[in-house]
Formats: sequence, C-alpha cells, structure tokens
Amino acid sequence: MLMEDCIKGRRSVRKYSDKDIPNDVLREIVDLARFSPSWKNSQTVRYHIVKNPQVRENIANNAVMGFGFNAKTITRCNALAVVTSVGKICGYEEDGSFSTSKEDSWEMFDAGIASQTFCLAAYEKGVGSVILGIFDEEKIRDYIDIPENETVSALIALGYPLEEAKSAPPRKAVDELLEIID
Ligand SMILES: Cc1cc2nc3c(=O)[nH]c(=O)nc-3n(C[C@H](O)[C@H](O)[C@H](O)COP(=O)(O)O)c2cc1C
Repeated sequence: MLMEDCIKGRRSVRKYSDKDIPNDVLREIVDLARFSPSWKNSQTVRYHIVKNPQVRENIANNAVMGFGFNAKTITRCNALAVVTSVGKICGYEEDGSFSTSKEDSWEMFDAGIASQTFCLAAYEKGVGSVILGIFDEEKIRDYIDIPENETVSALIALGYPLEEAKSAPPRKAVDELLEIID
C-alpha cells in the first residue's frame, strides 16, 4: 500500500465484524509500531491487548467515565489495546531532572506517535481501529494487571470493519495549517 493511501484511507472504525484478529496479526502490528521514533530512542510505549470478552465488557461497563459511545465501541471490538508508557524516562536527564520545559509531556508525545503508527499498521493489515481518549485509568487497572511504573496513555479498539469506511471527516485546508518562513 502506498503511504499516501494508507494515511488518507485510515478512518476511525467503531463497528466490527465478529472475525477474530489472529494473535500473529496483532504481533505484526506491534512489530511495525515499534519502529516509531521516541525520545532518545527510549521506547517506553507498551501494548496490553485485551481479547478476553469478559474483561472488555468490564472495561466497557465500568471504565469509560459513563461515556456510552466508547462503551459500545469496546463491547463491539475484537481486541482492545491498552497503550501504556513506562514512566520517569521520556523527557528526563540521567540525573532525574527534566530536559526541557515540557517536562514529562514527551511521554504522551511518544505514545501518540506510536499509536498513529499502530493504527496505520493495523489499517495496512485490514484491521480497523479507533483511538479512545475517554477512559478511567484507575478502573482499567481493576481489570488488567498493568505494572506500577506504567501509566495508561490511550486505548485503541480493534476489529475487522463491519462496513466500508465513510469519507474522512472534514479537514482544515493546508493554508490554515501551514506557514512557510523563507
Ligand atoms: C487523542 C484522541 C482521542 C480520541 N478519543 C476518542 C474517543 O474517546 N472516542 C471516539 O469514538 N473517538 C475518539 N477519537 C477518534 C477521533 O474522533 C477521530 O480520529 C476524528 O474524529 C477524525 O476521524 P478519523 O480518525 O476517521 O480521521 C480520538 C482520537 C484521538 C487522536
């Protein structure tokens, strides 16, 4: 697939067929996502992928801050990636001080890059995805064992799309986004 087609063709997918995503395919997606750039190549992003329907049901019912839209997506999906970041590394010097005024927000920056790579890799393999930002981290910890030194950066719901993707929601024009300083 051409990169341009991959970037423009990926859509947030919230309705999925019942088809299982083989573990090998999930491994291939993470195999590509691990090539994402990261702060000093620190590679702090981790993927805890929940296939177990009961665990997903628990997260859907109790860990989305009452946001029913996400509850539905998590119930419908075939696998839910809980994207975490190992703390106290991104944005830090070796002596434990922050490297820049952005402090540890580089951690979320890296998780964002990795999540986009993950979603593009999934799309290339025919797997639909949607990043979910509305969740309750502490409640998610009630249902899956996340190491104490990791924080949850995002959820990504995954599944083979039930229907053909609609066209992209409107995007701002390039001129609104870009300033070239000669
Ligand atoms: C950080 C982030 C958080 C998001 N949170 C949610 C969410 O909680 N629920 C949801 O349905 N979509 C969520 N989305 C998906 C966006 O709504 C979607 O990317 C946007 O509408 C553009 O559509 P597209 O991905 O099909 O291009 C999120 C996307 C990002 C990047």
